[in-house]
Amino acid sequence: MATKALVAPSLLAADFLHLADDIDKVTAAGADMLHFDVMDAHFVPNLSLGTAMLAAVRKYSSLYLDVHLMMDNPDKYLDAFSEAGADGISVHLEVFPEPDAVLRAIGDRGKTRGLVLNPDMPIASLRGKLANVDRLLLMSVFPGFGGQKFIEESYDRIREARQLIMDEGREGAIELQVDGGVTLENAASILAAGADCLVAGTAVFRADDPSAAVKRLRGE
Ligand code: DX5
Ligand code: ZN
Repeated sequence: MATKALVAPSLLAADFLHLADDIDKVTAAGADMLHFDVMDAHFVPNLSLGTAMLAAVRKYSSLYLDVHLMMDNPDKYLDAFSEAGADGISVHLEVFPEPDAVLRAIGDRGKTRGLVLNPDMPIASLRGKLANVDRLLLMSVFPGFGGQKFIEESYDRIREARQLIMDEGREGAIELQVDGGVTLENAASILAAGADCLVAGTAVFRADDPSAAVKRLRGE
């Protein structure tokens, strides 16, 4: 676990008509990055944000922009998301069972290389595949929608992933993120299981006070 827990508010749950206000609030609260969910209606049964929105956010905010690509063919859009202002780009192991090439392509564009696993993808399938990973994102819900309930088995998966990162000699090099159903109530347990970074949409942007929610997620 990192010495200081990182918090990544997910813009999927923000108020799109008042996005600048919402970004200001979480920025003032010390959010470490903004999580940007891209859904293609194929890999997941929903559509969400795209490059035009990312470019608008980039123009407004200097926060680190972490782009989570829930797409069937993200490799074809690496340039588009890079040019729109992504700082980090994460792709799913379900889409790239052998992820080295796409991770290298992300790195070649100067972006942080992220690999994502759905809740039913065994952690053991990561063995030997972490060399080019800077950020490992464990889904704690099936992706596609915000506001779902955290899958309790995720705690064991977080512990297992933390151990695997150590076994593969990548401790300190990989940031372990958890995404989906993170709340003010379960945040401490998720961090105790070994997560470095909490992605949270509903818990932050649907809170009465998003700024306070970010601080509480981190345990402040
Ligand atoms: C789910 C997305 C998540 C989502 C999290 O498909 O990848 O990032 O926005 O939303 P909450 O925190 O509401 O579960
Ligand atoms: Zn996400």
